Amino acid sequence: MDSVPEQYRRTDRSPPVTTAPLTDRSTLVAARATELSKIYGQGETQVVALDQVSIDFRQAELTAIMGPSGSGKSTLMHCVAGLDSFSSGSVRIGETELGTLKDKQLTKLRRDKIGFIFQAFNLLPTLTALENITLPMDIAGRKPDKQWLDSVIGMIGLSGRLGHRPAQLSGGQQQRVAVARALASRPEIIFGDEPTGNLDSRSGAEVLGFLRNSVRELGQTVVMVTHDPVAAAYADRVVFLADGRIVDELYGPTADSVLDRMKRFDAKGRTS
Ligand SMILES: Nc1ncnc2c1ncn2[C@@H]1O[C@H](COP(=O)(O)OP(=O)(O)OP(=O)(O)O)[C@@H](O)[C@H]1O
Ligand SMILES: [Mg+2]
Repeated sequence: MDSVPEQYRRTDRSPPVTTAPLTDRSTLVAARATELSKIYGQGETQVVALDQVSIDFRQAELTAIMGPSGSGKSTLMHCVAGLDSFSSGSVRIGETELGTLKDKQLTKLRRDKIGFIFQAFNLLPTLTALENITLPMDIAGRKPDKQWLDSVIGMIGLSGRLGHRPAQLSGGQQQRVAVARALASRPEIIFGDEPTGNLDSRSGAEVLGFLRNSVRELGQTVVMVTHDPVAAAYADRVVFLADGRIVDELYGPTADSVLDRMKRFDAKGRTS
């Protein structure tokens, strides 16, 4: 990681894990949901997708969100990222309460402070890799921090292919471009909904390694949804959702320990 300029390097490699009360950790929090609920529909057809979820996403930490299909993972991510409205509770990105923002301010916040990585890479086919990476900033009329951009590009390891169009890149390479695009503006937090869901295991490992490096070496904060215990093992912390609630949390996960927790929930589900 010699390509990372000094000012962007992290000195403390492992994020502090603390049991202090929420309020004492506020300076380390990139995003926070407090008693967040999201209810779809009304009456008989009502679905409680999120049920009073409180969670902190701490700076320079990679969090994986896991849980069965329909447990509320995407809903949680969309509500915290300001992509979807919520029914009650509050969400904070940095020091900004999302509930206080008007639509325009919310759009600006999403653009300036949040990075997104989707399962489908969403790269524009007519632009080169490099043009895709800088596109959000070009649209926003912002100049990229050249040193930062160089370190991001150095890290994705595509230097010989920056002039290639997406169709000329492998799936893993395309997704690395999408990750670089999310990182390019140095957002406060990056959200990925199954960012490696469409990749084979080798390409997935490349992208996950890159995401983890961005957390370890550049101090980026990343939250990703995944169904895969191997992918979750790249995270610093795994949060388990079931029926719109957080039911467990695991620090320093391994694929085995994640799988073990998943089995426990399955067993609970069957016996209850
Ligand atoms: N637009 C919507 N209208 C009504 N119900 C919805 C809507 N979006 C999601 N839901 C419901 O909310 C619950 C949570 O959905 P969500 O998409 O967050 O699940 P998920 O954990 O991401 O699942 P998956 O792993 O399948 O992606 C589900 O019961 C789903 O049916
Ligand atoms: Mg989902």
